[in-house]
Amino acid sequence: MKNSDPSGPPDRRENHLGEAGRGFWSRRSTATLYLIDGYTLPYSTYGIGQGIRGIAIHGIADSHPFREQDFTMDAIQAILTRRSIRRFEERGLPPDAIDRLLEAAMAAPSARNAQPWHFIVIDERSILLEIAGRFPNAEPARYAPVGILVCGDSTLELSKGYWIIDCAAAAQNMLLAAHAMGLGGLWTGVYPREQRVEGLRELLGIPEHVMPHSLLLFGYPAETPPEVRRYHPDRIHRNRW
Ligand SMILES: Cc1cc2nc3c(=O)[nH]c(=O)nc-3n(C[C@H](O)[C@H](O)[C@H](O)COP(=O)(O)O)c2cc1C
Repeated sequence: MKNSDPSGPPDRRENHLGEAGRGFWSRRSTATLYLIDGYTLPYSTYGIGQGIRGIAIHGIADSHPFREQDFTMDAIQAILTRRSIRRFEERGLPPDAIDRLLEAAMAAPSARNAQPWHFIVIDERSILLEIAGRFPNAEPARYAPVGILVCGDSTLELSKGYWIIDCAAAAQNMLLAAHAMGLGGLWTGVYPREQRVEGLRELLGIPEHVMPHSLLLFGYPAETPPEVRRYHPDRIHRNRW
């Protein structure tokens, strides 16, 4: 895979967690409640030090095919343990997983609450293969059972230019929701690369007023990238630069 754009090899500044770190952040949790330090609600066996125990991402609706423990992960844990997945198992997603991902996407914040997005769910293998063939940065589409193309609709925009950020928030929500559901996800960049934007527009019949923004790939992970820490105190400034 080409190391263009933000994609590429793991960042050398990252700390790959050792055994101790991994023990502290278990990948799976059975937390089902919103837990704030000081409250005595039941909680799972991990925590963030002695402080806030986090906010659970858990069942969006009651009828879902996941067992509660499969579907529930502390939000902070999900954020800190999510990695890009580029190899997927052959099996498809559980029946309503895509709806849950889309529900997570559309729950994202957006400038003036414009929600200027559309989503194209791609589960036809021939189209995913075509994408993998045409766009080297999206090569993992060859193996992913599902792709979701996040698009921005200029006619829905309320504050000019913010659609890019709004769509990014929706994309990130989906990646986190997928991870919390035990699935793997990959963000492959589209906008602002002209060739990718126009290539996908042509391939998928997207109208002129709609901009392909990012193509997310989902499936059961067939790899387990190590957890990393990216906390850099030298990037933090207090009150002034
Ligand atoms: C805007 C954006 C575009 C990206 N484009 C690609 C891409 O085209 N292909 C790819 O394999 N990964 C892509 N990635 C994933 C990044 O390479 C990945 O997030 C980064 O290396 C950090 O690794 P992690 O996601 O495992 O934490 C993209 C990520 C972002 C946020």
